Amino acid sequence: MDTVRITDVAPRDGLQGESAIVAARDKAQLAMLVQKTAVAEVEVSSFVSPKWIPQLGDAAEVFGLLAPTKPEGVIYSALVPNERGLDAAIEVNRAARREHGIERLIDKVSVFTAASEGFSLKNTNATIEETLQRFVPVVAKAHEHGMMVRGYISCIVQCPFDGIIAPEAVGDVMSRLLEMGIDEIDLGDTIGAATPETIEPVIMEAVDRLDGEPTNSFGDPTLTLHLHDTFGHAGECVKLALDLGVRSFDSSAGGLGGCPYASTEGSRAPGNISTLALVQAIKEAGLSTDIDQDALIEASAFASGLIK
Ligand code: HMG
Ligand code: MG
Repeated sequence: MDTVRITDVAPRDGLQGESAIVAARDKAQLAMLVQKTAVAEVEVSSFVSPKWIPQLGDAAEVFGLLAPTKPEGVIYSALVPNERGLDAAIEVNRAARREHGIERLIDKVSVFTAASEGFSLKNTNATIEETLQRFVPVVAKAHEHGMMVRGYISCIVQCPFDGIIAPEAVGDVMSRLLEMGIDEIDLGDTIGAATPETIEPVIMEAVDRLDGEPTNSFGDPTLTLHLHDTFGHAGECVKLALDLGVRSFDSSAGGLGGCPYASTEGSRAPGNISTLALVQAIKEAGLSTDIDQDALIEASAFASGLIK
């Protein structure tokens, strides 16, 4: 497999930590520009508690704005922390079917947990085990409604609260998610702490846990890597991951998504690896993407203009 799959997470991960709330129509415009770049997937928003993430409290409205123009082929996804979030996603799909005749507006939901207890508690007010229990009915119901399920594992190398994370801790959570029937595992270097040396054993552990099944029942890679570029090592980590066989990555147009734990007063930490940097790293490794470079430049400029 020499083509690399890209999910652009700018509308979700890029905007969830911004102090300013971006208008729904601007979020929809960002998603539309991002989908024109020909990424495989756009992570549009989250159906989470607006008390926790007020920035994405308009998820249903943003999807509603996208419904009339969703092109063939692109996958729209959204984060859901629990059954309530999934029900909101199902309702959005019902409305899109009723009003626009679309078979499925949201194709994939993403549940999220962590390899560290400290992060799990801060992010979801639940232990890792409690998050996993929450996911069981979510996975079954999402599949009943024809949606794929991605399972994020945060803090795969280091946690801002618990420090260094053992690769086996990541592998153990990953095995539980796979046993549950989750279609895709997404390994998150949440604070951008990874270097090629520290991420290598984690990827090797993950590949091992896949047990020779690099693609899922939808024909997509089962393993995705989600890098933040806080300390400037994300590009090197992409190349190492490509060497180890990873063929699916997340990135964000304009590099939106600065980690709140790494930013300081007046100095914004770099965010998710930018889609431009990811495409460049993939090309340098001799592999290809389907990305339209001109469209990507336009999406990146629009994304950067949304944040101050
Ligand atoms: P909680 O406070 O423990 O639970 O939150 P709760 O059941 O008491 O709910 C609190 C309130 O939220 C209640 O409202 C619920 O009804 C409501 P109230 O009764 O007080 O009016 N609520 C909801 N509202 C809308 N949608 C829902 C929902 N669920 C409950 N789905 C909870 C637990 C999980 C809900 C909360 O902690 C939460 O929403 N957390 C989300 C945090 C988040 O989105 N973090 C960012 C995404 S993860 C990430 O960025 C990492 C990643 O990028 C990968 C990486 O980089 O590593 C993916
Ligand atoms: Mg992230």
